Amino acid sequence: MMKRIFSGIKPTGHLTLGNYLGALRRWVEADQHQADALFSVVDLHALTVDHDPARVRRLSRQAATLMLAAGLDPALCTVFVQSHVDEHARLSYILECTATDGELRRMIQYKEKSVRARAAGQSVRLSLLTYPVLMAADILAYGADEVPVGEDQTQHVELTRDLAVRFNQRYGHTFRIPRATQPPVAARVMDLQDPTSKMGKSHESGAGIIYLLDEADVVRKKIMRAVTDSGQDVEYHPGSRPGVANLLEILSACTGRNPKELAGVYESYGALKKDTAEAVLELLRPIRERHAELVADPGHVDEVLRKGAGRAREMARPTVDAAYRAIGLLPAG
Ligand code: TYM
Repeated sequence: MMKRIFSGIKPTGHLTLGNYLGALRRWVEADQHQADALFSVVDLHALTVDHDPARVRRLSRQAATLMLAAGLDPALCTVFVQSHVDEHARLSYILECTATDGELRRMIQYKEKSVRARAAGQSVRLSLLTYPVLMAADILAYGADEVPVGEDQTQHVELTRDLAVRFNQRYGHTFRIPRATQPPVAARVMDLQDPTSKMGKSHESGAGIIYLLDEADVVRKKIMRAVTDSGQDVEYHPGSRPGVANLLEILSACTGRNPKELAGVYESYGALKKDTAEAVLELLRPIRERHAELVADPGHVDEVLRKGAGRAREMARPTVDAAYRAIGLLPAG
């Protein structure tokens, strides 16, 4: 059987340069060409934190449109919306009966997000705790071998492996064991205003975040105002000089040149920022142009998603049925 790849983006905010460099770009350039690949707008995951229904709907459509604009080709891969395929939720429950409360409470994202929600006086939804199990279901339902993600998702893929191994040991071989793959650079693009934390779509202030649909002037301004470090020389030291290292990694991802080598080219932060801004704009321009075309043709996007969901359902069904039988549920007639 051909190699399977699964990955997803959750519509909790506008897509960022981090999403593109950490994940989407590789799906387009490599993954869809070398495997039976599925890419999903994982909308059920967007309901784990306070949400506005109309906004989630809008962002789901926008994420799908951007995935196509970036170059995912429905002739090569399957693009779909998670909630259109029941198998995800169906398998998630079975995996909840495989996971433990303790291992979910140890997830870094749960710890960080639940602390943040409580600090803001919000309650923490139960689904925030169980979310990595749904993510495991997303991956295992399709028998994915590889899961191309940014660094922040590797712990969830590790959990997915643990659950798959445990299930197979207890109930017989059912799931393929997946592994996370990461890009060689920019696996963790940092916030331009706070280079010690990840550039994330749902941060309150957008000043340190490049959104794929930001206007050119906005992108320039954000990069020119990026927080750099107190030194003068342009050096690549992610530990002690995170701001400059982040810019070098972004420039490296755009140009294909090594970040250390790039550091040697620049004598000032200003020049580095200027070139980084132009390189990012160059990278995003075709995506923005294609996005504008696709927005003018929503019927096309709907059709891609409809066909994608049909294909995805067919692929997931046999594995999820097998898991239901293996765990002891009586087959329906
Ligand atoms: P999400 O929606 O937060 O991010 C989508 C992808 O973008 C990557 N990413 C980054 N990479 C580098 N630097 C950054 N600053 C950055 N920010 C985000 C993420 O690592 C991810 O690959 N739980 C997932 C969505 C998901 C999923 C799945 C992924 C649900 N089910 C199954 C893979 C397989 C998430 O919240 O990604």
